[in-house]
Amino acid sequence: MHQPVLLAETISYLLNKPDGIYVDGTVGGGGHLQGLLQNLDPQARVIALDKDLDTLEATRKRFQHDPRVVFVHEDFRHLTRVLAEKNLTKVDGVLLDLGVSSMQLDLEERGFSFHDDARLDMRMNRQDKLTAWDIVNTYDESDLLRILVQYGEEKYAPSIVRSIIKRRQEKTIDTTLELTELIKASVPASYRREKHPARKTFQALRIAVNDELGAVETVLPQAVELLNPGGRLCVITFHSLEDRIVKRFMQWEARACVCPPEQPVCTCNHQARLKILTRKPVQPRPEECRSNPRSRSAKLRAASRI
Ligand SMILES: C[S@@+](CC[C@H](N)C(=O)[O-])C[C@H]1O[C@@H](n2cnc3c(N)ncnc32)[C@H](O)[C@@H]1O
Repeated sequence: MHQPVLLAETISYLLNKPDGIYVDGTVGGGGHLQGLLQNLDPQARVIALDKDLDTLEATRKRFQHDPRVVFVHEDFRHLTRVLAEKNLTKVDGVLLDLGVSSMQLDLEERGFSFHDDARLDMRMNRQDKLTAWDIVNTYDESDLLRILVQYGEEKYAPSIVRSIIKRRQEKTIDTTLELTELIKASVPASYRREKHPARKTFQALRIAVNDELGAVETVLPQAVELLNPGGRLCVITFHSLEDRIVKRFMQWEARACVCPPEQPVCTCNHQARLKILTRKPVQPRPEECRSNPRSRSAKLRAASRI
C-alpha cells in the first residue's frame, strides 16, 4: 500500500469548505482522498484523476460505496477540460501529490525500480507510446546527456551516456538490471558506495518518459483559474526541479506587480491571484521519515486563491 505523505498537514491546508468541490489530481492509492473524505460533508464532491488506469481502477473499487467521488482516467494536464465535461468551472481545492506511488515502484513489471529486473518501461500511463526503452535505445547522445543532466542532476552523466552509446552498438539495452549494471560500471567506486548509483539516471528517465515537469507547468495556471476565492492549491513534490517550478509559480501569482524593480511606475497590470500559505515548504517530521522513508524528500506548498 502507498502511505500518503504529510497527510494531516495537506488536509488542513486543502480544506476550506466542507461541502465544497475538490480535485485530487493524483489520486494514486487514495490515501489523501480518504483523509479528505473523512473531513467533508455528504454534499461535497471530489473529482479524482490518475493517468495510471490500473491504479485508478483499484482505488475506484476501494471507494465504490462513496457517492461523493468521481474517478477519471486522465492526465491532470487536461484538468480544465475534465472539469468542463462534468459541467464544473470552479472548485474549492486542488491537490497534486506528484511523482510515482509505492504501488508503481513495487510492481516489478512497471520497470520503475532499479532493484528489480524488468523491461525498461516507466510509463505511468501504459497507453502512452514513449517508454524508457525508447529513450535509452534510440535517443542520440546529446539528448540523453541533456535528460540525465537536467532531470537527474547526475554528475557522471557523460560517462554513463558514453557507456550507453557504446553498448547500443553491440546490442539493445532491454532491462532495468542491464541498465543498472552498466551504470555501476560507468561510475567510480566511491560513488557506488554513497547512494544507489542508478538512482539519478532512473529518476531522469522517469521524468522524461512521463513529461513530469511539462505536466506540472501546464496544470498550475489551470488550477489557479479554476479555484473559487478562498480555494486552495496544495502541491507535494519529491525533487528540487518540481519544487522550484511550484515555488516560482506561486511567488509569481502572489505578486501584485511584476515590473522591473528599477521602473518607477507600475505598468504591468499584473494582479496577485494567490496568497502563499506556506512561507517555507512543509516537510515531514522525523517520525514520519522513519515510518515512511519515501516521504523524506517530500515538500508541501500551499496557497489560497485571492
Ligand atoms: C505519489 S502518487 C499519489 C498518491 C496518493 N496521494 C495517495 O495518497 O495514495 C502519484 C500518483 O499520481 C499519478 N500521476 C502522476 N502524474 C500524473 C499526471 N500528470 N496526471 C495524472 N496522474 C498523474 C501517478 O500515476 C500516481 O498514481
